[in-house]
Amino acid sequence: MDDLQTQAARLREQLNRAAWRYYTLDDPDIPDAEYDRLLRQLQALEAQHPELRAPDSPTLRVGGQILDGFAPVRHRVPMLSIRTETDTTPAGAENFEQQVRNYLASEQRRTQLKPDDERHRAQPLGDQALAVLGGQPLRFVAEPKFDGLAMSLRYERGVLVQAATRGDGETGEDVTQNIRTVRQIPLRLQNAPSLDVPDVLEVRGELYMRRDHFDALNQTQRAKMAAGDKTAKIFANPRNAAAGSVRQLDPRIAAQRPLSFFAYGLGEITPPQAGGPRLASHWQILQALKAWGFPVSDLARPCQGAAELIAFHASVAARRDSLPFDIDGVVYKVDSLALQTELGFVTREPRWAVAHKYPPQEELTTVLAIDIQVGRTGKLTPVAKLAPVLVGGVTVTNATLHNELEARRKDVRVGDAVTVRRAGDVIPEIILVQKDKRPSEAPEFSMPLHCPVCGSDVVREEGEADHRCTGGLFCSAQRKQAMLHFASRRAMDIEGLGEKLVDQLVDSGAVKTLPDLYRLSVAALAALDRMAQKSAQNLCDALEKSKQTTLPRFLYALGIRHVGESTAKELARHFGALPAIMGAQPAQAASVEQLEQVPDVGATVAQSIHTFFQQAHNREVVEQLLACGVRWPDAPAAAGALLPLAGKTLVLTGTLPTLTRDEAKDRLEAAGAKVAGSVSKKTSYVVAGAEAGSKLEKAQALGVPVLDEAGMLALLAGKAP
Ligand code: IVH
Repeated sequence: MDDLQTQAARLREQLNRAAWRYYTLDDPDIPDAEYDRLLRQLQALEAQHPELRAPDSPTLRVGGQILDGFAPVRHRVPMLSIRTETDTTPAGAENFEQQVRNYLASEQRRTQLKPDDERHRAQPLGDQALAVLGGQPLRFVAEPKFDGLAMSLRYERGVLVQAATRGDGETGEDVTQNIRTVRQIPLRLQNAPSLDVPDVLEVRGELYMRRDHFDALNQTQRAKMAAGDKTAKIFANPRNAAAGSVRQLDPRIAAQRPLSFFAYGLGEITPPQAGGPRLASHWQILQALKAWGFPVSDLARPCQGAAELIAFHASVAARRDSLPFDIDGVVYKVDSLALQTELGFVTREPRWAVAHKYPPQEELTTVLAIDIQVGRTGKLTPVAKLAPVLVGGVTVTNATLHNELEARRKDVRVGDAVTVRRAGDVIPEIILVQKDKRPSEAPEFSMPLHCPVCGSDVVREEGEADHRCTGGLFCSAQRKQAMLHFASRRAMDIEGLGEKLVDQLVDSGAVKTLPDLYRLSVAALAALDRMAQKSAQNLCDALEKSKQTTLPRFLYALGIRHVGESTAKELARHFGALPAIMGAQPAQAASVEQLEQVPDVGATVAQSIHTFFQQAHNREVVEQLLACGVRWPDAPAAAGALLPLAGKTLVLTGTLPTLTRDEAKDRLEAAGAKVAGSVSKKTSYVVAGAEAGSKLEKAQALGVPVLDEAGMLALLAGKAP
């Protein structure tokens, strides 16, 4: 029995460690299959010997019994809220610093009163407060204000025993079962060197859902609804999705919801008998939380004085849209715990913390019309035209309704008051319709039977949610979209060929096919409305420049259905040259079976590529483009291993002095390297430019070699750095 117990404990330890490496550090050290094998082993063991089940067993991650409600939990240390600084200009940070100083000064005055005066302060001010009053700069920690929900996680002797929502700050709800399914939350604290595990440790932090996970969840929910599942619902935003998921009574459902967590503070903490960690500052708390195995945002920064807080506010604002999760502001916290105690609270809000909000990502507006847009592949998309409204600092006038099913589900009608959400780089969405305020005449939305642009029949294929115009390149909308895609930055990169110009070129009949673009003369261009000689010349130069391209860009630019950038790269890598894909004759083009040999190319994609090159008009377009002088250097087919950077993974960060991010990426990939978005132990090099941020820090922490642009160019030239 003892043996089995040790075995189970060892498995738990191995699995929990692997989950921490995978979910929190993003740096797995065992293959997924090994994890699954160990988990099955533990599951089998626990099934045979239920007495071996432990509260930190990763088998609990899949969800337990269905509940009939959540028990109340009284927080032993109340969960406070944060005061919001109303001056949302960066200068609001100065107000905060001033308020902290003013309060300390008023406390100092109270120490100077006579002891019998009731305003007298019993305790003299501590050294740190005195130093600050003496002119020493105030130290803060600045963090993002995560837009999720606050949680309190209680660990006793290192094991997660209870998880509770914030509730009203005094009493929350027991959601332990559901929280155990969150892979980023440790079931047992990591043993951190020089940091004993406290007897009791309450960790405070934010439960949230990443934007990509949120989109994927809603997509699944939509598919369920389309299949007739009445219980499926769409979530308005990641916060609602996270809140809905953690309050799921069926933990198996909660287990399938992709939740994440950031730790940012402590509740109760009881040091172990042996004496515990001595944490003197908030920054040290964050480091300790990291060491115990919690995800801590790498955006958090120690800051000195209001000026650095202001810089933090601006730099996070600039990155807000590109973060993988929603934030609604930043939080500034006085770093010293001694000072925090000195500063205390007013009602439920500490004087040592303040939130500085960003403009909201959701706003109210009205629907002016519902238009139909025709895409590159003929897909019809209903788009709500909105009364212009500022959302998160950007004016929004359009919101996609995706397709007929979605438009009807949302039941958006002209004249409706709606809430739009714009978060990150995604297209704005209508998330709420105020149906009670609806003007009664508005009819329900339905798709037109004919293409609003070319009048061709509209069809909806069996099993598909999308309607399509059957006009093909006869439809000027499809031609325009195909052209815009061809010219786009990651395709042929024709600078200056934007929407307005494409409209003019197509509407005037000057350009009918893609090769026609390369037949434009300066004179023909200058004859267009609002086109000066100089801009006509610039466009001709840009067209000329775009002819020198790469095979992946060219394949992507053709706009073959289902061929995105990465498929285009794989095709180029696999076949090496265009004739191997397209053949001299249609009969010699790569077969569906051959295409399926390409990594990540399945039956649908292979079929689509094959069909594309069977059609005479597509072959004609390709041949004419080549005749116009479009060209690229051929890479040896699948000779990846021969390329100088084959097998190397690089990460780019910051601004390089001469190359743009895309140019650097293209060059590295052409040399066989993989360019990744985040740094791990497996990263070969990090290329850092000006204002490199957390990726550079992570590289240094992991000992990954760091290059500047010159170093990267040397590497490309085959010289070891
Ligand atoms: S600290 C005394 N830090 O904001 C401070 N809270 O109004 C206690 N929040 O419900 C909280 N990001 O869920 C803190 N970096 C952060 C935060 C944060 C988001 C939320 C938290 C709480 C609310 C406070």
